[in-house]
Amino acid sequence: MGLDVARVRGRYPALDEGFVHFDGAGGTQTAAPVIEAVADAMRGAIGNRSTAFAPGRRALELVAGARAAVADLLGADPSGVVLGPSATALTYTLARTLGATWRPGDEVVVSRLDHDANVRPWVQAAEAAGATVRWAEFDQATGELPAEQYGDLVTGRTRLVAVTAGSNAIGTAPDVAAIAKTAHAAGALVCVDGVHSVPHGPTDLASLGADVLVTSAYKWSGPHLAAMVADPARWAALRPAKLLPSADTVPDRFEYGTPSFPLLAGVTAAVDHLASLDPAATGGRRERVRAGLAAAASHEETVFARLLAGLTARPFVTVYGAPARRCPTVSFRVAGWTPAETAAALGEAGFCLSSGDYYAYEYFRAMGLRDSGGAVRASVYHYNTTDEVDRLLAELDRLAGGGERMVR
Ligand SMILES: Cc1ncc(COP(=O)(O)O)c(C=O)c1O
Repeated sequence: MGLDVARVRGRYPALDEGFVHFDGAGGTQTAAPVIEAVADAMRGAIGNRSTAFAPGRRALELVAGARAAVADLLGADPSGVVLGPSATALTYTLARTLGATWRPGDEVVVSRLDHDANVRPWVQAAEAAGATVRWAEFDQATGELPAEQYGDLVTGRTRLVAVTAGSNAIGTAPDVAAIAKTAHAAGALVCVDGVHSVPHGPTDLASLGADVLVTSAYKWSGPHLAAMVADPARWAALRPAKLLPSADTVPDRFEYGTPSFPLLAGVTAAVDHLASLDPAATGGRRERVRAGLAAAASHEETVFARLLAGLTARPFVTVYGAPARRCPTVSFRVAGWTPAETAAALGEAGFCLSSGDYYAYEYFRAMGLRDSGGAVRASVYHYNTTDEVDRLLAELDRLAGGGERMVR
């Protein structure tokens, strides 16, 4: 069964405010069960983690619950789920930890298609270790990240390959499994940024070939928290900098300070929400979350196809990239308007779209677009509709026909 969009939209209270959200790539709206779970957790008694008293045990349960939920989302082992405040913070933790083991002459491969959160932590860790950084390039016309180039980029000295499973700028979904195969043949680790891809379809850690996969819950209807997952044996081999009295077990030793217990309740509720998107789905939560995200992906594809066709058909719109496999995200410019002007004018009309480089720094720099304001981004999430696409396209027509500029 497909997605019942009206029912699903009813589960996002923020949609009642009437904005049209094409900014899921920057952060989705929060699902009602998430809000309720966070509020419930805050209303009830919670202590810091302790087995001695019930509110302390509740905190432990909230952590365990979030680990289990993220594991079901990604096909991972709950004991391999590291929770943290953001994908950026978690990637820095891992980069510093791995970087401490690198030596001059070691090599790291990053890509110019990635969000800077999966670039700069590795570049800086390599610099600190005296290791060499090698760059995977995207095709400027198509926006593809050819997997074949990794055959040359990866050598016997490569310690790590960092690559995105979905570009937050132009949607490209590179062939991560092929890239991972090349990396693994050389004995390198593969760190995959799943922040943009995970909300848009079923994800399976093993079939991606990722040693480490990073995701942020606020991109899939949840709170502003993130997770970094790997085989627990992988974590067991790594020693992050940590406080002396904090837990030295895996995965806890990668987590800093006291977590936001109520928000962890929200992470669990967000995964449960995704698992409820296909009402006909059966089985355990892992099966239902896969079915729910498959239903969401199919709906998003329909909405996105209409958006892309509409943008491409308009002579005053320039669309960047045309990747064959992609997440439902596109960057574009409107002739005669800077990206910031376009976003502000659309914002004034109730349409939420980002402009700039959205931290896809290397992409926009390589395209020569960064200094002139980047682009405007439209990304589709499962609560978007074809009607919203038609309204956005009509608004763009109005702007191109001489609409007022609203520069902020
Ligand atoms: C593809 C991608 N990677 C990483 C990040 C960084 O995520 P966080 O805000 O959780 O650090 C983002 C945020 O927009 C993103 O889109």
